[in-house]
Parts: sequence; structure tokens; C-alpha cells
Amino acid sequence: MTTPPVFDARGLVKRYILGETTVEALRGVDLEVSAGEVLVVAGPSGSGKSTLLHLLGTLDEPDAGSLTLAGTATATMNERARTLFRRSRLGFVFQTFNLLPVLSAEENVELPLWLAGVGARERRERARAVLAEVGLEHRFGHRPDQLSGGERQRVAIARAIVHRPLAVLADEPTGNLDSETATEVMDLLMALNRSRETVVVVSTHDPALIARAPRRVVLRDGRIAADTRGAAA
Ligand SMILES: Nc1ncnc2c1ncn2[C@@H]1O[C@H](COP(=O)(O)OP(=O)(O)O)[C@@H](O)[C@H]1O
Ligand SMILES: [Mg+2]
Repeated sequence: MTTPPVFDARGLVKRYILGETTVEALRGVDLEVSAGEVLVVAGPSGSGKSTLLHLLGTLDEPDAGSLTLAGTATATMNERARTLFRRSRLGFVFQTFNLLPVLSAEENVELPLWLAGVGARERRERARAVLAEVGLEHRFGHRPDQLSGGERQRVAIARAIVHRPLAVLADEPTGNLDSETATEVMDLLMALNRSRETVVVVSTHDPALIARAPRRVVLRDGRIAADTRGAAA
């Protein structure tokens, strides 16, 4: 049997209603992402990147269309099944890092394992191993406010992968970083994709990062305007 795509989106439509106006954030998006892929979702501000990543991550539901995750149609999953899938099979990275300020780097990374019921000793060992993997073996006990922006995003990436998800969804993860740090974070995500075969979906409007990605999906006004593979032109 062939492995089903990790994400199989068909005709995704998402509308936001604001009083009298309706914003069509996604107007029929088809996207198939296979196991092991890394891709960038590009497009100008307002083109629907965040909306698409939220739908792929089951953080929000489409108004039309379907999403199949690793062979299971999300329409057949109830809220609890979706939550369990999200926690155990997906990882998220956000522009604003979303780390808990009172917790150390290590404790932040332990959170997904804690939610999965992993015991204290194994949590600590796995969190430390992943922090070392992202280059932060010297920062286990630091709180977010004691870390640089790039280091905070590395902690967030460690938290997103510590439970070995099928896919990491990163929404403008470099939006608050300088260009050199942004490149390092993108390279780290691509290295993790290679070493762990985790699917990585990164949204960005940074041309330098878009050019580095092996696959580029460009959104324009809620539709896919281009979907290209191989070296950027
Ligand atoms: N919660 C929301 N309520 C109303 N409109 C929204 C909301 N989220 C996004 N939008 C609108 O949907 C469109 C797509 O937004 P978004 O997915 O955030 O794009 P991007 O991430 O590419 O900037 C934009 O027109 C935006 O203003
Ligand atoms: Mg966005």
C-alpha cells in the first residue's frame, strides 16, 4: 500500500464575516503534501497564508472543501479526535514564539510530552536531547526573557518536534528575526526535515527564504497562483 499524503486538501474555502462584509480568505485551495516534504507557502500579506496553515493544522475548520490528514478525513473526526491528532502528530511554530514566560527552555520543550503523559525523567531527557539538536545545550535552564529572538525560536522549534510529529506548521517563524537569524532558522527547519523526515510547511513573504525552499506554493487572494519544485529561478 502506498503511504497517503500527510496533507490532502481539496477545494478549501474559508470566509470570515465581519459585520456586513464577508472576507473570502481562501477561495478553493487544493494542496497535497507528501511524507518527508518541505515547502514554503509564500504570498503577500492578506493572501491567506495563516488561514491555510490554521486549516491544515485543524486549528480552524473550512467552510467548504475537505482535508485528509495522513489518510483520515478530518470531517469524520470529532473535536476530541482532532485535538488528539493535533497534539500527537503535529507541531506548531509561530511568529511570536508563544513560549510560556515563567518556564525554562527545557520546561517549555517538555510541554507536549507532559500533555502526552510521558513521565518526568523521560520528558527531561528528551527535551534536553532536542534542545541540543537545535544548538541550545547551554540554555536548558534559561527563561525566554533571557534568550535572544533566534534562541527563542529554536526553543519553539524544539517544542514543535520533541514528540516526533508527522508535520511541523510554521507561520512566519522568522517574521520577528533579522535576516541572518531568519536564514539560520529556515536552515534549521530544513535540516530537521532531512534528519527526521518530518514534513515542514513554512509560511513567509521573505524572498530569501522562499528561494531556499525545495517547493514553493504561492498564494494570491486566497488562491494558489503557483506551485513549483526545484531550485528557485
Ligand atoms: N479572524 C479574522 N477575521 C476577519 N478577517 C480575517 C481574519 N483572519 C484573516 N482575515 C482576513 O483574511 C484574509 C487572509 O488573511 P491571512 O490568512 O491572515 O493572510 P496572510 O497570513 O497571508 O497575511 C485577509 O484579508 C485577512 O484580513
Ligand atoms: Mg499571516
